[in-house]
Amino acid sequence: MKKILRVLAATAVLASASFAADYTIKMSHVVSAATPKGQAADFFAKRVGELTGGKVEVAVFPNAQLYNDNAVMKALKIGNVHIAVPSFSKFTSLVPAMQLFDLPFLFRDRAHLHAVLDSEVGQILKDQVTAKGFVALDYWDAGFKHFSSSKKPVINPEDAAGQKFRIMSSKVLEAQMKAVNGSVQVLPFSEVYSALQQGVVDGAENPLSNFATKKFNEVQSSLTLSEHGYLGYLVIMSEKFWSKFPDEYKGKVLQAMKEATAFERNLAAEEDAKLLAQMQEYAKSTGKMKIYTLTPEQKAAWAKIMEGIYPQFYETIGEDLIKKAQAVK
Ligand code: SIN
Repeated sequence: MKKILRVLAATAVLASASFAADYTIKMSHVVSAATPKGQAADFFAKRVGELTGGKVEVAVFPNAQLYNDNAVMKALKIGNVHIAVPSFSKFTSLVPAMQLFDLPFLFRDRAHLHAVLDSEVGQILKDQVTAKGFVALDYWDAGFKHFSSSKKPVINPEDAAGQKFRIMSSKVLEAQMKAVNGSVQVLPFSEVYSALQQGVVDGAENPLSNFATKKFNEVQSSLTLSEHGYLGYLVIMSEKFWSKFPDEYKGKVLQAMKEATAFERNLAAEEDAKLLAQMQEYAKSTGKMKIYTLTPEQKAAWAKIMEGIYPQFYETIGEDLIKKAQAVK
């Protein structure tokens, strides 16, 4: 009997050894695993495993379990984590021109945004990130941002006055809120729920995926479908890690990333519609949050004021780059 058990144990060790990966890629992000970004990170991990026959594994750490977005840049530099998916605003101090994507009302719609990302403009910005010692991979989507508040519904630009909004660390977002006389507090994403709950801030701006998966509806009494700006991501890799990564697997990892990008972009568009229905149902069944849709006139009033900040960023972002993005068909 003992002998049989020993043989079984040895077989188990051998079996697990034959499945053990030779390389582990640590991937960090700050949102829920249920968001399009979270699901795409898991999809990427699965495809890397499949394409490399299990020789390379991707360990995904969601919800800022490892690092928040500021700390992750340093961790990537020294190779403590290998891939991260920060939102565009988180690149502000590294590549200030990335704030292009924070400009309110810059993108006509999702198709225009994708055309810009995939154009010379997207490549110029990737090159700037690469020049800072990272490997710039692909652009991923979250969605158009909406205002929410627990103090007063944000419907007309005047409604922002006297309210404090959580923003990501971006001079453009700061200027955007100043333009409508709102005040701001920069906070990492992991602290937004409690800041809203405790009244440290009155409101925020989020795409539906982040709003719903982090249950911000529990701590906000109004949501305005303002679509005043866009939230997206650049997937980046540690140059230190990639330069030592074996060539034989590089193509497979890049292939998995390409597939994950297509998966992510489709999912982000699909989920937006589903989450809106979910939030509408929540609003109706609980009566705890009201959802507002802007009339074209109200939207135009927001755009007129907020677009007024563009010239302030002609130098940091580049007037040319802004005009190029606007001109993309
Ligand atoms: C994210 O989607 O990665 C977080 C965005 C935020 O900080 O609001």
